[in-house]
Parts: sequence; structure tokens; C-alpha cells
Amino acid sequence: MSLRSTFQTSRIVSVASVVLMLCIYSLTQADPSPSAIPSIAHKDGRHALMIDGAPFFMLGMQANNSSNYPAALPKVWQAVDQLHANTLEIPVAWEQIEPKEGQFDFSYVDELVKQARQHHARLVLLWFATWKNNNPNYSPEWVKFDNNRFPRVITAKGETRNSLSPHFDSTLKADAKAFAKLMHHLKEIDAQHTVIMVQVENETGTYASVRDYSPTAQKLFGENVPDTLVKALHKQSGNWKEVFGKDADEYFHAWHIAKYVDQVAAAGKTEYALPLYVNVALRDPFKDQDPFTYSSGGPTWNVLDIWKVGAPAIDVIGPDIYDSGYSYCIKTLEQYSRPDNALFVPEMGNRDEYARYFFAVLGHGAIGISPFGLDYTGYANFPLGAAKVDSELIEKFARNYKLVEPMMRELAALAFDGKVWGASEPTDIHKQTLALAGKWQAVVSYGVPPFGNDPAPGNSTPSGGAVIAQLADNEFLVFGFRARVQFSNEQLGSRLLYSRVEEGHFDHGRWIFERVLNGDQVDWGLNFTDLPQLLRVKMASY
Ligand code: DGJ
Repeated sequence: MSLRSTFQTSRIVSVASVVLMLCIYSLTQADPSPSAIPSIAHKDGRHALMIDGAPFFMLGMQANNSSNYPAALPKVWQAVDQLHANTLEIPVAWEQIEPKEGQFDFSYVDELVKQARQHHARLVLLWFATWKNNNPNYSPEWVKFDNNRFPRVITAKGETRNSLSPHFDSTLKADAKAFAKLMHHLKEIDAQHTVIMVQVENETGTYASVRDYSPTAQKLFGENVPDTLVKALHKQSGNWKEVFGKDADEYFHAWHIAKYVDQVAAAGKTEYALPLYVNVALRDPFKDQDPFTYSSGGPTWNVLDIWKVGAPAIDVIGPDIYDSGYSYCIKTLEQYSRPDNALFVPEMGNRDEYARYFFAVLGHGAIGISPFGLDYTGYANFPLGAAKVDSELIEKFARNYKLVEPMMRELAALAFDGKVWGASEPTDIHKQTLALAGKWQAVVSYGVPPFGNDPAPGNSTPSGGAVIAQLADNEFLVFGFRARVQFSNEQLGSRLLYSRVEEGHFDHGRWIFERVLNGDQVDWGLNFTDLPQLLRVKMASY
């Protein structure tokens, strides 16, 4: 047998083994039928978003707030397509589906779902209703201008805020009824599950008042904390002040908003049981920040346990990350990935420095990520986000999505099995060590030239990242940008060698071999540049 044919035979065998291994998950797990309803699966404290019966990683893009009309959609799809996003997150406003009480209009939803299918994209709908960043501006005029029927939050000083109070059944019933209609409609039109999740409200909570101090709220505040909450938090019973002391006002507001959102969600789920989630306007992940300075009552990290007890109909609580600081981001990912909460980043800033967090998000076993406001409708949320949304900016995020898109299902399955690790470049540390499974470790360093062992100075701006996924005991998929990856293994010690490093790509879940990397290309580690590269690495010791 010639060298060439031996090589080709081994190539076919190795391709077959990877394909086989990568298929094992879908063959042995839940119903792979395309008609399976989207759900969140749980295993050993990890989670997966199940779409058509198998784990799915959401490569998302969130449209701008006012892109929720058919006239804006072409400029939204232009960005989704360019980004290689597999999912569009886009609002459905209460004001547009129920402009007059009891009269529903789903023409926008129908058009949106139709166009999503044409673009081979999934949808996450954002229910902008009682709360859209604390205010009710997306609720219909018959709601937002009727203070008697739909009372607003009253501050401790007696001022009226533009935030609806969570304590009134009239508001809850009206919102829940409209949301249930929306979910009912989705069930009727979407047997193929183009819509995979729905966000209930948007960044709930109240700005500039820790809670509602209206007479109705004051009466409730004087009562005992509900038993379910007291028990779940292992507290002694008593009223809010007695049980929670200085935190009583915020915890009271959080509990009542959670209960309210839970009832809206439950009304929708009764019609159609899609995964439902809420997003969060974050508080500082490290400091004990005064709730007056953020969206009090929303599911910030300090009240996650309260929300989990108060809103069981909500499947996931996802952080909206708008601070690009490395510690801020990583701490937030840690706070929202819990055995009782799948990590999902429904919004992230769109400045280019956020693009690298894709790798850390994958490494935390997330079910999805979605930069905010990357559409071409002519608006840029500067200075919170980028000054300009153009194809150059979109490309910064697109290159990550393009790399992962062809193996998204395989990666999501590996993450559900706890076999994916990721790193994003910090600001002041230029080398990180990832503890992989067993005795494996990977060192990820930034800014090192491709030849030689120079100390890692970091990239000129923090922009590197890498992901490692374990395929077998000694075999890994590795990809990244602007980073060097080096493996080590305590057991195999200094005799560790690359057995084979294949560069290739996936095509519909199949590994397609391109070449073997050896010599300069691997002698100093696996050096990822700005070029897209996917490596399949087999390690051994001599
Ligand atoms: C977070 C909100 O959830 C979004 O709808 C948007 O308003 C951004 N902030 C700011 O652009």
C-alpha cells in the first residue's frame, strides 16, 4: 500500500470515528424528531436548549428596539445573514398586537415567522409589555395612560414613577391575557418551531424607587413573608422587615415582580409550552450596590434565589452584559450559570471588544449568546455600544459564528456532556490555564509570536479567545482567534507529543480533513491568528 493510500485509509477511518462519536449523542438521547417542542434539558447540573430533539447553541443577534415592524425587517435580515446568526431575537410589543383592548392583530408576527423561515433562522420573541426597562412604554395607550386601572409605582416621597406597580390584578390580568393570546397564536402557526423561546417582559424592575410605596403596597409590606419563600431561603417567619432587614424593600419588590411575571408566563405556557426566560439589567457583580441606582426588583444576582422560588414558570434568567470589563463579564457568567439556571446571554454590547467573550460564554456551557443592536436600521446605541454598525463591526462577531455554525449541534452536545472549555483574553493577564477533564490542562496565551517561546505580552487590544472540546480521552477539537493553546498532562508528563493535528472543517456535522499540521506550525503550540482555523488534535506520549 502506498504512503498516499495508507494516509487516505487512516484519514477515512479517523473521519469515520469522529463522525461516529459526534453522532453518539443524538442517537442515544432524546427524541430527535423534528416536531419535538423546544425545551431546556438538564443533566448533572448542566443544561441544553433542545431544538428538534437535540442540543442547540443559539448564535443570536438581537434587533434594535424599534425593528419590530415589517418595514424594518429587510435591514434586520441583512445583518442576521451577514452575521451567520442562527437565531434572531426581536420584540413583539403589546401595543402592536392589542392596540385596542380585546382586538388582536398578529399580522407582524405572521410576517416575521414567514421571513425567518425564508432566511433559515429561528426566532426568540421578546414580549415588551408591563416592563420594558422599568417602564410600560410598549404597552398599549389604553394601558399606559390609565393610572387608575393600571397604577404606577409611588415612591417613598409620594411621587409617581413611570413604572407599573406589580401589585394590581387589573394590570396582571390584562398583560397575561395578551401574552396567552400571543402564545396561542404561535402554537397555531408554528408547528415547525421557528420560534424557539420567548422572553417575558424586558429588564423588569423599577428605576429611582426601590419598590412601590402606594397604600396597597404598604399593606402587603406589613404582612408576613409568604411561607414558601421563608422555607426556601431557610429563614424564620416574620414580616418583610423582620425577615430581611435592610434588604426588605428590594426583596419585597423582587418577590412581587417575580410572582407577577410567573403568572404572565404560566398563562402563556398553558397555551403553548415553549421555554420562557427573563433578561436582567445587571447590578455590579462585585459590590453591594444601592438598589436605588439600578433596576430594583429585577432578577439581579443578589435576588436570584427569590426569583427562582417566585417564578417557576420561567425556565432561564439571562444577564444582559453591557460592561466589557473582563472581571465583570466573567463574574456575571459565573453568577448566572447554576445547576438551577442555564447560562444564556440574551443581550451583550456590540462594541468589538465584546466579540471575544463568545469563547468564555461557550466555555461556561451556555445555551446561547446574542449581541444587541447589530441590525442595519440606522440606529447605534452609542456610547453604550458601538458608534456605528457597519459590515466591519458585524464581521468581528461573524467570524466566531462562521467557525461554529457548521458544528453547532456537535459542540452543543459536547457542552451538555461537560466537555467544552473556553477562554477569553483578560485585560492585564496574558496567560490562562484551563483545567480540562482528567489530568489534562490547556494553557492559553495571548500576543505570542508564532515562532518561539517569548513571554506572552497580550494582544494590542484584548481580542483573543479559544475553545477546547474533548472528543475522546486524548483527543480534542480546538479553535480560536489571536491565541496560542498548549496542552499538558500531569500523568503523561514531559514525553507528551502531538500524535496528529488535523486542520479541517465540519460539513453538516461531518469532519472534513484538510491537512496535517506539524513542524513550525505546532512546535511552539497551536497558534491561532485572525484566520479561521479548526483543529482536531490527538495527543500521546512516547
Ligand atoms: C437593554 C435593553 O434590554 C434593550 O432593550 C436596550 O434598550 C438596551 N439596554 C440599550 O440599547
